[in-house]
Order: sequence, then C-alpha cells, then structure tokens
Amino acid sequence: MLYHIVTYGCQMNVHESEKIAGMLEDLGYSPTDKREDADIIVFNTCAIREGAEDRAFGNIGALKQLKKQDRNKIIAVCGCMTQQKQVAEKIFKTFPFVDIVVGTHNLYLLEKLIKRKLNENKRILDYMESSPVIEGIPTKRTSGDNAWINIMYGCNNFCTYCIVPYVRGREMSRKKQDILDEIKEVIDTKCYKTITLLGQNVNSYGNDSKENGNFAELINDICKLDGDFKLTFMTSHPKDLSDELIEAIKNNDKVIKEIHLPVQSGSTKILKAMNRNYTREHYLDLIKKLRDAVPDIRITTDIIVGFPGETEQDFEDTCSLVKQVKYDGIFAFMYSKRSGTIAATMPNQVDESVKNYRVNYLLNLEKEIKAQKG
Ligand code: SAH
Ligand code: SF4
Ligand code: F3S
Repeated sequence: MLYHIVTYGCQMNVHESEKIAGMLEDLGYSPTDKREDADIIVFNTCAIREGAEDRAFGNIGALKQLKKQDRNKIIAVCGCMTQQKQVAEKIFKTFPFVDIVVGTHNLYLLEKLIKRKLNENKRILDYMESSPVIEGIPTKRTSGDNAWINIMYGCNNFCTYCIVPYVRGREMSRKKQDILDEIKEVIDTKCYKTITLLGQNVNSYGNDSKENGNFAELINDICKLDGDFKLTFMTSHPKDLSDELIEAIKNNDKVIKEIHLPVQSGSTKILKAMNRNYTREHYLDLIKKLRDAVPDIRITTDIIVGFPGETEQDFEDTCSLVKQVKYDGIFAFMYSKRSGTIAATMPNQVDESVKNYRVNYLLNLEKEIKAQKG
C-alpha cells in the first residue's frame, strides 16, 4: 500500500504534510514518488494567491485519468483551499473522482475518514468551522536535518489582502510544555541540526493565554535545553517585534542570526490600507535596532506589489526602502484578489501589466543589491 502527497503553499503546509504522512504510515501505507503507483494520493492545497489555487485545480483535474486506470485509488484533497466551504463544495461537485475532501481544522481526522472510506466506499466531504489545538498527531519528518515545530496556529491580524485568517482561524498557542517536550524528543533522536518554530505570527505567541509566557521567553527556555542544535523561527510580524525578542536573538548562541520580517510595502499609506499596524518609519527603526544588536543578522522580507491604490509614488517608496535595508532576500508577489477579504472590494485595483512590471523591477533591484553586497 503506497501513498503520494502533493504539497502547495508555506512551511506550515509542508509540516502538515509531514503529519499527513505520519497518519498514512500509521495506517500501514509507505511513501512513493510516483503518483501513478500510489494507492492513495493526497493534495494539500494553498489559497494564498489565485495562481496557487488554479494550479491545484488543474492538477486535481488531471487525476481523472489515473482514477480511470485504477478505480480503487483513493484521492483526498485537504488544506487551505478546502477550508473555504464553497471551494470544498466546488471540488467535491466538479471532480466526482475525488473521494475525500477535508479542510485545515479537521485534517487530524484524515486517518479516521480514510478508514471510513475503505469500509463504506462512499465519498466524504467533511467540513469543520474551527477546532482546538490537537496534540499527538503522528509525524513523519521529511525535511532533512530540519525539524519543523508548530508553536501556534491561526492568525488574528486580518491584513486586508490576506485569506489566512479565514482558512486558519483565530490564534491559538500550543502549551509551552508540549512544545518543549516535542523539541526534546526531536533533539534526542540526534537526526536534526535545526529546529524551526512555525506560526503565522510567532511574535504573538502566548497572547491568547498568559500561562505560557511570551515568544522571547519561549526562545530562552528552548535554548536552555541540552543538545547540539540551532534554532530559528518564522514568520515575525513587525508590529509585535519586541526589544525582548531582539535581546533573545542576540543573547542565545543557539539562535541563528536571521529573521524573516515581511514589510509588504514601503509606503505608510499602503501599509495603513493593508491594516499592517506599523509605519515605514517604525519598520526602519526595527531594522536599525536589529542591526545595532546583531550587526551581521540576515534579514529577508515579503513584498506585495499592486495592492489596490498603489501609485507610482507608493511603489517608489517601496523601492527606496528596499535600497535602504539592503535585504539578504526578497519574496515579491503581485497582489492577488482573494474573495471574502476587504481589499478584494477596494476601488483602484491595479492593472496586471503594472503589477508585472513592478514585480520584475523589484526582482532586478534585489539582484543589484546582492551583486553590490558580493
Ligand atoms: N503570516 C505571514 C505570511 C503569510 S503568507 C506574514 O504575515 O508575514 C506569505 C506572504 O504571502 C505574505 O507575507 C504576503 O507577502 C503574501 N500574500 C498574502 N496574501 C496575498 C495576496 N492576496 N496577494 C499576494 N500576495 C499575498
Ligand atoms: Fe495574513 Fe497578515 Fe496574518 Fe500574515 S499577519 S497571515 S499576512 S493576515
Ligand atoms: Fe497557503 Fe495556507 Fe500557508 S493559504 S501560504 S498554505 S497558511
């Protein structure tokens, strides 16, 4: 019995696919690289931009042929796309050869649903509005010597362009002891050099329950664990990056001196429209504080171009910020309308051709900066 998982999206999804693999191996399946050989194929989808959704749709559609060749093959679709109820229903309707559709909140039920499918041979569309933190899902780590560790789920920020709060729910931190226990277990195997803490906004770890302490305290506590490992984390939201966290990065030898700090735009006007809750000046001040504390820190970022209302001047503000910060890496995205978000209904949507020009301009700028840095 073989399984094949196709993963789209962010590290959160990469790690969730490790949990899917864990559940499948629990059921007795083994991995295969070839989807045509697999007895079960799982698509773990992403909804962040239209392109990601379109690709998944196309690739799920193409499974029809495989199903024709082997009617016993199980096809399951899960992840952020199918946490949108109307998309889950559309996939279930459009693709009759898809056997199981689940979202993000009920992913932990996959094992049970596969068993049900095998017993009853009925198609299953399972939807759950929300869920508490679920511990103890078996995990098959597949990311080399890096171990992903979730510290929290969900997001409360509602950046006006972003679908994540709608498909991942509200922020929920894991209990500190559960996190420490999982890390201890990982370190004890001696197979992992790097621990990467995951959350949509790791800086707000603990905000939802005081008993766990804050993110800086969590880092300090993890670094006290015995063992030969390095620690890193993603993603940090600039609005919550505290002096205490900067100190924790500086003072712990185990913490890798790098930070991914998405700026999204260099224009305070656009940042406000995005509901990012910081200004250009505040962001630049954070960069200065980080570099004063840790001079050789690697800083990377995400930028969205063509957010509704972004003028040539706003874009120039982004470019000037990029030149000033001299990032070690930039992920630049063309704004993509996500239905259900506030920005999707904003006036002054920007032309695709302009977005295209701006994204290429930024990528060239990044190349120039890299060349200068040597
Ligand atoms: N929680 C993280 C990352 C979220 S998604 C954070 O807040 O930084 C990763 C990146 O995708 C975001 O940083 C943003 O740059 C980009 N993104 C999110 N929604 C988008 C949209 N509608 N169109 C284009 N890019 C988007
Ligand atoms: Fe999306 Fe903003 Fe939350 Fe990041 S912080 S996941 S960009 S809403
Ligand atoms: Fe995509 Fe969901 Fe991550 S929308 S970016 S897989 S949280």
